[in-house]
Amino acid sequence: MRALILGGTADANSLAAAIARAGIDAVYSYGGRTATPAEQPLPTRIGGFGGVNGLADYLRREAITHLIDATHPFAAEMSRNAIAACAQTATPLLALERAPWEKTPGDRWIEVADVVSAVTALPETSANVFLAIGRQHLAPFGTRPQHAYTLRFVDPPEQALPWPDAEIIVSRGPFTLEGELAMMRARAIEWIVARNSGGGGARAKIDAARALGLPVIMITRPHLPDRPRVERVSDVMEWLGHRTCLGA
Ligand SMILES: NC(=O)c1ccc[n+]([C@@H]2O[C@H](COP(=O)([O-])OP(=O)(O)OC[C@H]3O[C@@H](n4cnc5c(N)ncnc54)[C@H](OP(=O)(O)O)[C@@H]3O)[C@@H](O)[C@H]2O)c1
Repeated sequence: MRALILGGTADANSLAAAIARAGIDAVYSYGGRTATPAEQPLPTRIGGFGGVNGLADYLRREAITHLIDATHPFAAEMSRNAIAACAQTATPLLALERAPWEKTPGDRWIEVADVVSAVTALPETSANVFLAIGRQHLAPFGTRPQHAYTLRFVDPPEQALPWPDAEIIVSRGPFTLEGELAMMRARAIEWIVARNSGGGGARAKIDAARALGLPVIMITRPHLPDRPRVERVSDVMEWLGHRTCLGA
């Protein structure tokens, strides 16, 4: 057995720890978006494979017997490539993907399908906006320079932002409700733009928005072809033939 974890998420990191503890031969793959990726207890590789064929070649060359797609729910290209490469090489595939957040009473969500629709859902009049989305998705917001944007990234952005001035917070998270409430109050945030990532670490901003009665423009997840999917690390371990008693 030799597993490949497509990682870059907290869930992938928990899985890597469980796989290392179980002594399973495995490789952890990062996309290379972060300058300082978290260290893993497994051999790590960084960077793209070169599309579907590149990944299929890698699976054959490295004699991968199990592929776990634990990428972020919005990393759709990698997930589509994994489905196609596993079909091409007859490699068993399992996705480890947290459930999306569900709207609860008090939430003021405007659900939109993509970033461009999120831009048009913003008001015309100037507002303080917390843009809680990846830095590769900022360009479309350049058409709305009237807003005062607050942004938060794991690394400081290398490229120029599409507005003359914006507040940048550099932090890896996870974030607490108290911390998010304090940040939103200090910056007098009026609107939040977020992606429905799911999970606990990013949820605090959604809970804070509800507590403050703020509208959230919520970008729904990209559509993926059907694939076997679980939400817990222990389910992946069982799929790999190892039982855990972690309740993870
Ligand atoms: N999208 C997000 O908001 C987000 C948030 C947190 C973490 N991440 C993590 O950041 C990484 C990149 O995300 P993305 O949204 O840019 O992906 P993406 O748009 O789905 O993928 C673009 C390309 O990046 C390469 N790639 C992506 N993930 C990879 C991985 N784990 N290992 C090796 N190559 C990978 C692949 O290149 P090739 O075609 O050349 O193989 C893929 O085609 C992923 O590991 C993801 O889990 C993403």
